[in-house]
Parts: sequence; structure tokens; C-alpha cells
Amino acid sequence: MTDPLAPFFLGAYGENNDFFEKTLLELVRDHVFWRRNFHPEDEPPIGTHDQYTRAYLDGLARTRHELHQLTAALKRSIPSFHPRYLGHMVSDLLLPGLIAQLVTTLYNPNNIVEDVAPITVQLELEVGRQLARMLGFSVDPAKEPCALGHLTSGGTVANDEALWLARSARLYPLAVLHASTATGIWVPDVPVRPSSSDIELLALESEEVLALARRVSSFCRREPRGAELFRALTTSRVEETGLASFAERHPRLRRMAVLVPGTAHYSWHKAVSLLGLGGANLVEVPVRQGRLDGAALGGALESLRREGRPVLAVVGVYGTTEFGTLYSIHELLAVRRRFPRFWLHVDAAWGGYLPTVFRDRKGHLLPREAVREGFQQFPSERVYRATAALAEVDSVTVDPHKLGFVPFGAGALVVRNRRVLDLVQQEAPYVFTSPPEEDERRYRKLGRYILEGSKPGAAAAACYVNHRVLPLDRDHFGRLLARSVQTCERLVDRIPALGQELAPWVRLVVPFEPDCNLVCLAFNPVGNRSLKAANAFGRRLFETVDVRPDQPVQLKEFFGSSTTVALDHLGAEEVERIGAALQLDLGHPDHSGLFLLRNTLMNPWLQSSPGPGEPSYVEAYFSYLARQIRLLLER
Ligand SMILES: Cc1ncc(COP(=O)(O)O)c(C=O)c1O
Repeated sequence: MTDPLAPFFLGAYGENNDFFEKTLLELVRDHVFWRRNFHPEDEPPIGTHDQYTRAYLDGLARTRHELHQLTAALKRSIPSFHPRYLGHMVSDLLLPGLIAQLVTTLYNPNNIVEDVAPITVQLELEVGRQLARMLGFSVDPAKEPCALGHLTSGGTVANDEALWLARSARLYPLAVLHASTATGIWVPDVPVRPSSSDIELLALESEEVLALARRVSSFCRREPRGAELFRALTTSRVEETGLASFAERHPRLRRMAVLVPGTAHYSWHKAVSLLGLGGANLVEVPVRQGRLDGAALGGALESLRREGRPVLAVVGVYGTTEFGTLYSIHELLAVRRRFPRFWLHVDAAWGGYLPTVFRDRKGHLLPREAVREGFQQFPSERVYRATAALAEVDSVTVDPHKLGFVPFGAGALVVRNRRVLDLVQQEAPYVFTSPPEEDERRYRKLGRYILEGSKPGAAAAACYVNHRVLPLDRDHFGRLLARSVQTCERLVDRIPALGQELAPWVRLVVPFEPDCNLVCLAFNPVGNRSLKAANAFGRRLFETVDVRPDQPVQLKEFFGSSTTVALDHLGAEEVERIGAALQLDLGHPDHSGLFLLRNTLMNPWLQSSPGPGEPSYVEAYFSYLARQIRLLLER
């Protein structure tokens, strides 16, 4: 039977090259004809005779030479298209999106605003809606909240932007309080009153904040002293005063915390420093089994409450980079109900496309039993509930350039209520109350509402075409993701046998059971109890599967990646558990942490084999690792 995913990739061997070349050529020609037929009556600015001059030919030759130099150098790139590659979060690309991106680049649209990208800005907003539906958000413009998603250059910027929006929304009521106090103008029927305290206003729900913004905006527009209040409000907002002055007026904010898991991606450290929130206010909550759970979050929030520190935002992760774990988002939401409100963001840069496995063609969440078909364990009840809970969080980062299988340069931020963008927008002040049709139009001026400016419309076209060819449900895109999770289940299944086989040489441990499609392995040579020596061994093993710029990649059989988990971020219990499993003394962990070999199982053909009757790539990878381990230890 034909593999249903086979038509959608160029293929490890370039199997679909015929289609790729033909289609690309057809679309390139189509573009050139478009140019020619634009104003065919015009004389071409580059004269035909010029094209035969020496200088002209020299120019072409130089271009060709440099391009050949480039492509020769690129042959030392990582072979991410091949099932021998189990390294970083990248794989072969979906062909529809790849062609869409290459061809759209010829038209060079800039998605900063629709004036320079009349088509692709609309495609980007449609991609945002597709992603929002996949996450379970409502995208009906006639109802609130209506979600909005847009593309970013990657997960890092999407995370920055989420925190930027969170800061804006959470601090908005305090700015209203300040402006009303200064002017003596109080908007009726809103939670900001002369008796309001900072703490009380910081505890408002996101929806309440946005409702407040709407009422204030309408008041400013309609009432006689509205313009005066508006001016005061503009100068009271954190965007205008800066965080330092804002915190002078509201001293509690000096130590306003952002809670992230202890093992959070380093983009969060960048985000807090960028926004002036300060690395010291990034509170790292210890994870258990590679996950931040409700109990740990509740404990951390309780301590902050006792210290009188407000919480700006909490970050949950749906698909951790180091462990392939998915947090119990439902538990984080339950904890949020017990505490003063905070912005709940989910960093699903890695796992963001997994919900495709959970949705039917109409976008409804399938029952867990239906999702389970074809898997051994996935999804656990916990993972199922976590996925369903995504619909209730404030914002989600999703990276199409990871599990969306599009070229790099495509992250995404999806917010549950698009009105929050109005708080940071750089346009007309009174836009809060515009009717839905007008809303639809004004968000097309994307650059005014988001962190980035000029951005490639080609990335939007790539995502859009992929999502049209393979809609974001279980029967289409979900198949690709299901394949990836199934491969991981097979790989994890093989680990005990590999552990047995290697028992005379090393202890092999999966420190964190993965929830999806990424698994890390830790090694310790038998008899060794030192972390340093175990890490040194791990690094030597990794050298057998890493890419070196000075080595042809063809010399390597397989490719993996690595990560280091900081043990002091895990909590004592976890360190003890991992130490016991690896038979390592982790009592005084050094700061280098524990070195792990990381395997990302994206390639759809990892379960196929290099030849008839041969073991699959995944099995061959393990045999290769086993051989290398023995070689290293026997040496
Ligand atoms: C969980 C998580 N968040 C954020 C990022 C940053 O994404 P990007 O590299 O696209 O900026 C990554 C990247 O691996 C990630 O895994």
C-alpha cells in the first residue's frame, strides 16, 4: 500500500524530484510570464543586445561561480531530510509549503502591512485562524473572545511578544487608576474606582482587563472630558513611562514575578531582560519527571503570595525541548483559579502541532479512545486533558518551522482574545470599539500590532499551502504527527532491550519518560560514580553522531543532538531518582548538569529500513550506538 505521506516530501532520495522540478519550473515560468504580461507594451529595460557583451557575460559567470561555491559549501549542511538524522528539531520539509515558499519569494511580499503584501497578509491571518482552531480557540469575529494568530520569525520572538502583551494587559488597570486619580475623571461601572488597590487590580481576569479597556476607550471617545482622561492614560501606561517609573508609582511591581519551569528554554531569560522585568524576577519552579505540575506551581505561587509579590505571567510548556514532555495545562489552569489572576502562556514551540492528532475534520476534539487508535500509550489521560485545556489559556507559541515542517523563519503566536493586541498597537487611539468588519481589516496592518516589522509573506504562503493540502486534523496533518509519536513509542520500547545488551558496559537511562516524539538518553559507564566522567563519556559518544563543519557528513552513519539538563533546577527528589537510576553520585552536582543524548523523531521514514530485510533506521540507530559504546569503552 502506498504510504499516504509519500507524495508530500521531496524524499530522502529526492524521490519526488520529478514533481518538484516540474512544478517549480512551471511556477517560475508562470511568474516570469506575469512580469512579461504586466505592461508588454514597455520596452524591456535590459536590452537584448546588452546580454551578449563581455561585461554582461562576466556578471553572469561571477554569479554562477559564487552560487556553485555556495552550494558546494552547503553540502556540509546537516542532512535533516534523511531518516539517519535524529538530531535537532528539523526534518525533511513538506513539499507543498517548500514550493509555496520558493515561489512566493519571487513575488517578495512583506507582511508588515497589506499595502506591500495584499495577498499574503490575508494568508497569514488565515494561517493564524487555522492554528487557533487547532488549539481549540474560537475564531468567530462576531463573538468575544475571538482569537488571532500571526507568524513570527520563530519561537523566541513569539515568547517575547507573549510577555510583552501580558505586561501590557496586566498593568493596564493600574495605568487607568493612575490617570483617573490624576485627573479626577472616573469611568462609571468599571472595576477601577477611587478605593481600588494595586493588588486588587492586578488580580483582574484578562477578559475583565479587556472589557475595561473597551469601556475606557468608549468613554474617552464620547464623554466631554474623555480626551483629557485619554491623554493622562497615555502618559500613565507602562509603554510610555517605562517599567522603572511605573514601579515607582506601584512599588509592588518592582518584584513582579514571571514563573517558568526550572528547565525553561533560554528564550525566557531573553524575554524578561528585554522587557525590563529583570532576570532576578524570573522565578524558576522545579519540575518533576520533566514536567511542571499543579502542586509545584501552587507551592511557588503560595510563597510569592506570602512575600507580597505579584505574578505577571506563568509559562507552561507543551513539548519540552529537553524531554519531550507535555505539561498538565489543565492543572495549571486549576491552580490559576485559586490565585490572583496571571497571564497563562503556553510555550508550544515544539509540541504546537500535536493537537492535530486530537481533532476531527470539523475541528472538534475527538474522544480520547478515538485519538488512541494506532498508539501504544499515547495520549495518556493527562496529555489528553492538557491538550483540551489549551483552549483556555491566554496565549500559545507554536513553531511551524518545527513540527509544521516548513522552512525556518516561521514561528507563531496565537492569542485567545485578539483585543489584547489593541493595547500595544501603534495606531489610532480609539480603535477598541470598532465593529467586527472593521477589526478584520485593521489587523491586516499587522506591523502595527505585533513586535516585528518587515517579515516574509513567503513564510505565510508556505504554512497556508501546507495547511490547505494537509488540513490540521487527524486525517491529514495529524497523520504526520501520529507517525512521529508512533516512532518514538517504538524507540522507547526498544530501550530496555538495548539497556540489557549494554549492561556489561554502561547504564542506559531515559531520565524523563517522553509524552510525545522526542526522547533523551543518559549514559554512565559501569562502575563510574562521577558525574564529570559520565558527562565526558556522553560527549565522546555524541561526537560519533554530531555534525562537524570540517567533516563531510557522508562519513557519519547517524546523527543525534545533545542537551544538558541543569540538575540544580530539578529539585532534590528528582536528582536522587536520576542519580539512583544511573548509579551516579549527584549529591553535589557541578553546574555543568547532566549531559544527554537527544533524539528528535520527526522524519516520517524512521521506521522504514535502508534495504530489504534490514532493520529499520530506528533499530539500526540503536545498533550503531551500541557499537560505538562498546568501541569507546573497550578502547
Ligand atoms: C520550548 C521552546 N520554546 C522556544 C524555543 C525557541 O524557538 P526558536 O528557536 O524558533 O526561536 C524553542 C526552540 O527549540 C523551544 O523548544
